[in-house]
Amino acid sequence: MKTVRISIIGFGAVGQGVANSILSKNEYLNEQGIDLQVVGISDSKGAEVNAQGIDLEKALKRKKEKGTVSKGKGSALEIIRDVEHEIVVEVTPTNINDGQPGLQNMLSAFNSGKHVVTSNKGPLALRFSELREASQDNGVMFRYEATVGGAVPIFNLVHEALAGNRVIRIEGILNGTTNYILTRMAEERLPYELVLKEAQELGIAETDPTYDVEGIDSACKLVIIANSIFGENATYHDVRVTGITKITPEALELGSKNNLVVKLICEAGNSNLIVAPRLVPKKHPLAVGGTLNVASILTDLAGRITISGKGAGSIETASSILSDILYIARTL
Ligand SMILES: NC(=O)c1ccc[n+]([C@@H]2O[C@H](COP(=O)([O-])OP(=O)(O)OC[C@H]3O[C@@H](n4cnc5c(N)ncnc54)[C@H](OP(=O)(O)O)[C@@H]3O)[C@@H](O)[C@H]2O)c1
Repeated sequence: MKTVRISIIGFGAVGQGVANSILSKNEYLNEQGIDLQVVGISDSKGAEVNAQGIDLEKALKRKKEKGTVSKGKGSALEIIRDVEHEIVVEVTPTNINDGQPGLQNMLSAFNSGKHVVTSNKGPLALRFSELREASQDNGVMFRYEATVGGAVPIFNLVHEALAGNRVIRIEGILNGTTNYILTRMAEERLPYELVLKEAQELGIAETDPTYDVEGIDSACKLVIIANSIFGENATYHDVRVTGITKITPEALELGSKNNLVVKLICEAGNSNLIVAPRLVPKKHPLAVGGTLNVASILTDLAGRITISGKGAGSIETASSILSDILYIARTL
């Protein structure tokens, strides 16, 4: 049995999803010959550390009842630097102004010789090259499947399953909130403001929906694709972005009469990075509905491959994180 020790930095929806997935997959992990131990967990209020492995059921219960996992003093950085373990799972909130605290957490992890698995797109949308160099300089792995498309394995597909192919172009829908709004507007012929309100009531849209509806969240994800798959050195400022706030029910109806739907499409290839509403034929593989995400990847050998699935959710995002953890665990 190979023991692999991890820390979970950030214990919100995704961090708790990772803990729940490890608990539910215990038997599977053992069958794979992997003993996954969580030796540190932190949230914004404190931390728990246990070199022998934290009892995850108790940690989840404490978080639920007390609002924190903390059992005493300690910070994310102290866990990352001082506690012996192999993988830092960085799942703190996305910040696209300066990338913090994720950026500092990831760089500290690399500099202390630890692999990083993350769902936090902020640092990657701002400082991808620096992060990749820091991981390479320290001889450790950097995995970020969950930053784009939630459960949809875009990077694994391209880097592993499609290895040897040249990717010519990628188009996709990378934001579930805007896709839900556009789908409801088209289906119910309702105005944008009304559907946005409905989405907020359902918890699909944030109270401040700006990042989603203005296309900023999509732009951040597109930049990660551009850097990781096309080897570019872009930041989200390099993306030409148009959001969905100006789309009217009349425009959607006109499209519908011609068997077209409007979708917020992200496009990368030919060094052009664009996020904009586009007309898509109703039966096109990109025309997925509701909160679904989709990526259509055009390659030289395999042709076009399209994958679709849930772009968010605690357990769905944890699926990508667990897959990255297992990739590292098997490689160690
Ligand atoms: N939720 C999704 O479906 C989803 C999907 C894909 C990617 N993501 C990304 O994954 C990351 C986590 O998302 P989430 O939904 O889990 O967010 P969340 O529910 O807001 O949780 C964030 C966690 O980070 C903790 N935190 C904040 N500042 C911290 C600090 N300085 N040190 C340590 N912990 C800190 C928070 O502490 P408190 O608990 O004390 O507030 C909280 O536990 C984000 O970057 C998000 O963009 C999320």
